[in-house]
Amino acid sequence: MNKNILLTGGAGYIGSHMAVELLNNNYNVIIVDNLINSDKSVLKNISRITNKSAKFYKIDICDDELETVFKENKIDAVIHFSALKAVGESIEKPELYYKNNIGGLENVLEMMEKYDCNDIVFSSSATVYGKPEYLPIDEQHSLSAINPYGETKIACEEILGALYQENNSYNIAILRYFNPIGAHSSGLIGENPQGLPNNLAPFVGKVAIGEVEKVSVFGDNYDTPDGTGIRDYIHIMDLISGHMQALKNINNLQCDSINLGTGKGYSVLEVIKAFETASGKKIPYEICPPRDGDVAQCYANCDFAKQKLNWQAKYGLDDMVSSHLNWIKK
Ligand code: NAD
Ligand code: WQD
Repeated sequence: MNKNILLTGGAGYIGSHMAVELLNNNYNVIIVDNLINSDKSVLKNISRITNKSAKFYKIDICDDELETVFKENKIDAVIHFSALKAVGESIEKPELYYKNNIGGLENVLEMMEKYDCNDIVFSSSATVYGKPEYLPIDEQHSLSAINPYGETKIACEEILGALYQENNSYNIAILRYFNPIGAHSSGLIGENPQGLPNNLAPFVGKVAIGEVEKVSVFGDNYDTPDGTGIRDYIHIMDLISGHMQALKNINNLQCDSINLGTGKGYSVLEVIKAFETASGKKIPYEICPPRDGDVAQCYANCDFAKQKLNWQAKYGLDDMVSSHLNWIKK
């Protein structure tokens, strides 16, 4: 029988791509999202791509109403995407982040226990490594938070670790994403932040299509070859195939934390260059002071993902950038 997979935050950027992949692979998909950072139109586009529908509940995962979802569906596994993720906002409103991200996970776990669901894939982040002590970063790197958003991810990982210690019949995958960018090849779903994007790729995308005049490059004096910050950008569809592998191998995972990146870093100027090549347009930029809390370089060692999940990223920066442009032009 086809498995029922609950995607919390499934209307969001990563969740919507996951929904498409699961439906295409004959899973039944149940999405719970309060649409605080997404739009219902995403659901229609998921159906347009797959010719199938995800079941949708507009529910806040922190509410008691979440029980309805578990009562009405036999959930086989949860992929827990739901979270607030804006670093700046988390500094202004830490309590909101603790309540939403940590409280939300606790509520989901309570329901899983009550309704006998043992399998969970959790969205963590490279932010849990804080300021890198060495590169590339492997999963043994120490954890530290540089903002409340990061604190919530570390706290959630600890909650899952404690749960597994208490009851090892749970199957838990903690996936630490590096910098996911790009979009589905249909151009019907992608990352669509409201207002001016905080993250590099969506911002450069807006400049490429003429919606914003120029990119502010945050610092050119880092200890990197061109002086600008280096990150491990990973194509959204590679990130999704990592989740598919985690789901398929979940019985062999012992609450493992696993990096999902490419292992290769690109600088801000290299990203701008890739957008210039893909769009055929000059992208104006201006060097600005460094952004508070930024690190010079961050990229992953992905050996563990290869070993545990038989997974590695296959797309390069050009694919990521052209798929993003295809999406925003549409
Ligand atoms: P997103 O904001 O696009 O998606 C998150 C979804 O969760 C949104 O649709 C939002 O409406 C929903 N949501 C938030 N709080 C909710 C609540 N209380 N109840 C119900 N729904 C709620 O973000 P994304 O980029 O798709 O990120 C998914 C997950 O991956 C998050 O946990 C995020 O922290 C993590 N992550 C993202 C990145 C990234 O760069 N995008 C990197 C590392 C980790
Ligand atoms: C990348 C590089 C900036 C914007 C953030 C979160 C992290 C994770 C992923 C969720 C840096 C530079 C950026 C701009 C710039 N999210 N930059 N001009 O900071 O690596 O990670 O998103 O877990 O928690 O902190 O990504 O895309 O914001 O920045 O020069 O307008 O681009 O300084 O070097 P970051 P980013």
